[in-house]
This record gives sequence, C-alpha cells and structure tokens, in this order.
Amino acid sequence: MVDVLLGLQWGDEGKGKIADYLTPRYDVVARFQGGPNAGHSLEFNGIKHVLNTIPSGIFHENCVNIIGNGVVIDPVLFMAEIDRTVAAGADVMKNLRISYKAHIIMPTHKILDAASEWSKGDKKIGSTLRGIGPTYREKIGRGGLRIGEIFSPNFEQNYHEKKKRSLQLVEQFGFTDFDLASMEKEFFSAVERLRKFKFVNSEYLINEHIVNNDKILAEGAQGSMLDIDFGSYPFVTSSNTTVGGVSTGLGIAPKHINKVIGIFKAYCTRVGGGPFPSELDNEIGQRIRDVGNEYGATTGRPRRTGWLDLVALKYAIMLSGVDELCMMKADCLSGFDEVLVGTSYKGDLMQTNEVPFDLNADNFKSQYESHPGWQEDITQIKEHSILPKTFKDYIQAIEQQINTPISIISVGPGRDQTIKK
Ligand code: GDP
Ligand code: IMO
Ligand code: MG
Repeated sequence: MVDVLLGLQWGDEGKGKIADYLTPRYDVVARFQGGPNAGHSLEFNGIKHVLNTIPSGIFHENCVNIIGNGVVIDPVLFMAEIDRTVAAGADVMKNLRISYKAHIIMPTHKILDAASEWSKGDKKIGSTLRGIGPTYREKIGRGGLRIGEIFSPNFEQNYHEKKKRSLQLVEQFGFTDFDLASMEKEFFSAVERLRKFKFVNSEYLINEHIVNNDKILAEGAQGSMLDIDFGSYPFVTSSNTTVGGVSTGLGIAPKHINKVIGIFKAYCTRVGGGPFPSELDNEIGQRIRDVGNEYGATTGRPRRTGWLDLVALKYAIMLSGVDELCMMKADCLSGFDEVLVGTSYKGDLMQTNEVPFDLNADNFKSQYESHPGWQEDITQIKEHSILPKTFKDYIQAIEQQINTPISIISVGPGRDQTIKK
C-alpha cells in the first residue's frame, strides 16, 4: 500500500517535518522526483536537520529509505549530506537504497544552470543553481548519465563524452565564470565514495514491498505550483511534482496508490521568480517572513510571502486527488487582527476562480475574504479542542471551501508540535 505526501503550493510547505512525523506508520519512505533543489527540514530533540536528496524517514531506525529513478543526484552534494546525516545519528548504510536509474547531475549541468540563468537577466527563473533543469533536459533528450553507470569500466570515458554537449551550450551562452577542473576533481572523488552505497533496481524493490503488504510513503519535493506541466510555467522546476510523478519516478502502478496527503502553509511563500497573485510586498509580508523565518533551507534566500491562495490550493487538490491535508505554520499568523484568504483572481481583463493558462499574463491578483485573526500563542497546544475558537473557525471555513478535511495542524517546527484532528 502506497500513500503519497505532496506539497500543494510553491514548495517549502513543511513536507520534511510531516514525512518525519508520519514515518513510524511506514516501512518505506521513497523520493520520486527532484534532487538537491529540495531542502526538507525536520526537527526533533531541539535539533534541526535539513535533507536534500535523502528521504525524510532516514532518522527512524527501521525504515527503508529509497531514492527512486525519478530523482537526480549530485554526487558531491550527496556525499556532504551523507556526512551530515551520519553525524546526526542516521544509519545510512543500513537504511538507504539508491536506484541505478537515477540520473547524475554532472558538474557541467550546474555550470549550464548558472549560464542559462545569467543569460536571462531580469527574466531568470530563480533556479537553485543545482543543475536540475539541465540534468532533466539531458535525461529527456536521451543524453543523460545514469548513476548505475558509475560501476561501468567506461564510466570516465562516458562522462567526458557526455559533458561535451553541455560545454558546447555553455560556450554558446558566452559564460566563463567557472572552474571545471576543480569541480571535476570533487566530482570523481565523490563518485568513488558513492560506489560503496547500496544500489538497487528500485522498481523491483518497491514492488516487492507492495506484494509483502508493507506500508510505503512516497515523499514529494517542491510543490504542485512548480510542476513542469501544471505549475506557473516557465517559472517551475523540471519534474512532475504532482501525483503522476510517483508512478514514473518509482515504478508504482496507479492502482497501488492509496491515500494522498497534501501539505500546505496557512499562508503562501515562493522562492525565485514568477507570478504570485496573493503576494504581500509590504509590511505584513515582511512580518510573516520574519515570524515564519521564511529563508530558504537550501539557498538561504528570503522567500516571498503572501496570503493563502485557495484558487491554487483547490487546483493542487484536484490535480493529485488529495484525500487529506496538513495545515502548517498557522502559529506564524497569531496576532493578526484579520487573516485573509484569496478566493479568486482578478486580472486587467478578466476575473476567474481557476488557475489560468498563463498566470504570468494579465497581472492577476487575488481577491480576498477576511477572517478574524487569533491573538493567542498556539505553539504549545497539543489538542485540537483547546485551540482558539477564531482559529478553529478559520480552519473550518477553509475546509468548507476546499471540500477536503484538514487532519493535521502543525503549530511549530518540532515533531511534537503537531496536532491530530
Ligand atoms: P519542505 O521543503 O516542504 O520540507 O519545507 P522546508 O523545510 O523548506 O520549510 C519549512 C520550514 O518551516 C522549516 O524551517 C521548518 O522547520 C519550519 N516548520 C515546519 N512546520 C512548521 C510549523 O508548523 N510552524 C513553524 N513555525 N515552523 C514550521
Ligand atoms: P522543497 O522540496 C521551494 C524553485 C526555485 C525556482 C524554481 C526552479 O524544499 O519544497 P530549480 O532549481 O528546480 O530549477 O528551480 O523552483 N524551487 C523550490 N522552491 N522549495 C523547493 O523545494 C524548490 N525547488 C525548486 O526557487 O524558483
Ligand atoms: Mg524546502
């Protein structure tokens, strides 16, 4: 049986925290897309851990963690993450498996990401510069390097052949600000270490777990509004972050997917460029950024902030067939007299309740509904029944609009700051 956990907004919803919180119910946690553009934070015993490529079940002793074929791996960043995670007490040798079919982020992919962003000037995507776009482009263009190839005696030769194409593109951009020789030195020494890990045909392993009736959690990265097909294109990432990615990124047939759990913040954030109809480019937005500590877990960049956008949330729930929701970070909204939620978009030419074909056009802005705020600090509350009434009313109003139950309310970053409803 496979449950899926997905971010429903523009990433950074709190997927890492909830995946870690839910792991005791699962035998396997698996990542199916994305790569080190993700930064998933989890916190227990007062210590915060940030994972990029490793699934968020890694801190639980008896959980198998799988990096699926749909993921892209940067050997250098991956080894650094391994060292951090081992130092924090995880047994990665016992509990981590990597798909032979995951693609490698090569040094030239990172250079190409930087070159491409540099060439776009004002119109840049705001990529994490981790080489995600160029690696997926090579994969789809059938010129990529799969991680299983590190065991081939021709690996270095293959690598050098494959890098040529990216280098030609870099040259076309006229981009020269890189030191490939030192990047390659780091790359090959990381690949050397990588060979010691447990590589598997993860599609077989996952399906064996399914046959054995084990419980599997597929952990999404990024968010639905960054999906390559359904997000605010071209300001998106290069993978399917919605439920379809689970099947292609792990080899799980749709009939095995049981429950889809959607994660959303009680407000919205976005890192990088692109449209954001409920953005608060003002003091309220800054207050949310400060209280919510909205600075990127991977890049440290300040996140853009805005009110909750129900048009986008409903869209994400529809796309992935979300069964239940986790509302995150409502604690950061304590103290506001009123809390707004966006219920439609108004552009220069039209008003709509749907996410339009081109969210970049027509200057779309959210139209709001106002709810009374709550003044109480809710970070220490453990039970739904004693939450402030105005906050419970706010939750109920949202549930009615989106027609989906909110089953978990998170009131702080810690594992224990999680309320079941
Ligand atoms: P992810 O990428 O979806 O895993 O989310 P990130 O880890 O990038 O960002 C979420 C941030 O919010 C992290 O710093 C978490 O520690 C923190 N966080 C998660 N849930 C809560 C919550 O309910 N309240 C507060 N105040 N912080 C939270
Ligand atoms: P998690 O899993 C938030 C954003 C980048 C940029 C766009 C494309 O932590 O939620 P990319 O590097 O993928 O080419 O960048 O997507 N982005 C994220 N924003 N959370 C993430 O991951 C993100 N991964 C990518 O900021 O706008
Ligand atoms: Mg994140």
